[in-house]
Amino acid sequence: MPATPTNPDRRRWLDWVLGSWFAGVCGAVFFPVVRYLSPPEISEPPTLTVKAGPAATLAPNTGRLVPFGQKPALVVRLKNGELRAFAGTCTHLACTVQYRPDLEHIWCACHNGHYDLTGRNISGPPPKPLDSYEAHEQGDEIVISRRT
Ligand code: FES
Repeated sequence: MPATPTNPDRRRWLDWVLGSWFAGVCGAVFFPVVRYLSPPEISEPPTLTVKAGPAATLAPNTGRLVPFGQKPALVVRLKNGELRAFAGTCTHLACTVQYRPDLEHIWCACHNGHYDLTGRNISGPPPKPLDSYEAHEQGDEIVISRRT
């Protein structure tokens, strides 16, 4: 019995259709995975000013975390009443830092990182200082701001 003759144009067309379908399926599967693994950078405005709560409720030698753009900020009232504000995320692996009244400095609980009250990393794994922000009282509110 003779072999059935093949039509090269039909075969090429079928290869193209199947190849296009396969490429579409791969794109539909892998594109969301790639987007998930590398999300787009969301830029923040270079200047940001936020109200950080009533000044009267932040006693000397205490700190408070407040939302500041996409990340928290830590506002601290020193024993002498001076206000200071810093980025609220550790420079090591981005855990949230807190003020420790017993140590009188900023502490990261994740890996025992310590920062002094200028934001400088003084102990533990944090590789660099915390960003510091401007903090002051405006009326009876605390206001913190970042300028770049
Ligand atoms: S995340 Fe803060 S010390 Fe590791």
